[in-house]
Amino acid sequence: MIAKTFISALMSAISNCSLYSKEHISVENLTKKSLSILNELLTERDSLEIMVVEDHLVVNKTPARNTGHHGINFIKRLKRKGISRIDFLKGITYTELKQFIADLSDPDKELKTYPHIKTGIIDVRIGGYRIEGDDETFTSEQVERVKELYHSISPYKGLSVSGLEEIVVNFIVTFKREANILKLISPVKAYSEYTYTHATNVAILSMFQAESLGARDDLLHDIGIAALLHDVGKLFISKDILEKKGKLDREEWEEIKLHTLHGARYLAKIDGLTQLAPIAALEHHLRYDCTGYPTLNAGGKEQHFCSQIIATSDFFDALRSRRPYKRDWQIKEIIALMKESAGTEFNPFLVDNFSRTLMKALENDGMSEGRPS
Ligand SMILES: [Fe+2]
Ligand SMILES: [Fe+2]
Repeated sequence: MIAKTFISALMSAISNCSLYSKEHISVENLTKKSLSILNELLTERDSLEIMVVEDHLVVNKTPARNTGHHGINFIKRLKRKGISRIDFLKGITYTELKQFIADLSDPDKELKTYPHIKTGIIDVRIGGYRIEGDDETFTSEQVERVKELYHSISPYKGLSVSGLEEIVVNFIVTFKREANILKLISPVKAYSEYTYTHATNVAILSMFQAESLGARDDLLHDIGIAALLHDVGKLFISKDILEKKGKLDREEWEEIKLHTLHGARYLAKIDGLTQLAPIAALEHHLRYDCTGYPTLNAGGKEQHFCSQIIATSDFFDALRSRRPYKRDWQIKEIIALMKESAGTEFNPFLVDNFSRTLMKALENDGMSEGRPS
């Protein structure tokens, strides 16, 4: 595959550039080589699109397999710069490509704007994507692309049978018009990839639940937003604690718990944001039986229904997510655990509804056993 050869040449140029200098002969030769392969690729199309989806490269919407160590290193470089999509456009020059290589090879340098190289972020879990400089609205063609992406990469694509696709696509479209939300969630992605992925999963699952309960339009959208932002307070927790692989000690655990208060305070200050967002940020670790945290719940105030929905999705996704130090939970095991805590930790009505609708959706797709990939 010619794209694979391009990635290898480009990555070699980047490695040599970090090893030597931009002006080194090997960098010049590899840049020339990359450019000639790229131009060959651009004879039939106007752009070459490379995306990082989880830990894989997707070139022009097709997964690029066997890209070897060059592929792995390329992904690492892009992640370090916080980008997950590059578009190389027809007309690209040697000088531009060389500058791009030099910028990518230097860990301290920010990527600049290049006339024929566009870099940006794709929001893989909900299928949305953003390219810097794009305007704020989607065309119908773009909506189709969002749908396509959603189908190819959503971890919960098995749920599309129940109309989830439409909900999520509508959500992405409206969400993109609200510049505020992007501004709020982007730092989370940069700070902790896991928290961001988890947040988007919780948004999908919460909308799935809410829709099955009859929520529509603005309410459904607001629940999605609140779910997406429920853990935003983790931005205020130190990375060492957030990413610690072992057990947390008492002090660390107390700090983690503060993400609820930090998040609520942060979101309460944002103009025009649904009130459900600070409420859910504050309450998603409160329990149905009024215990849990934060413990300022002296009056035993009941958890908001929206927070209960989000808490259910939160628990489910935390167990489903593959983290190296956690074992892999099967859906049925998680549901069984949730049922055990129905009435104490979770609203029993929601657990019942969630398990029934989830199992039904997965069975319709022939996916009740094993995990949706
Ligand atoms: Fe949380
Ligand atoms: Fe969470």
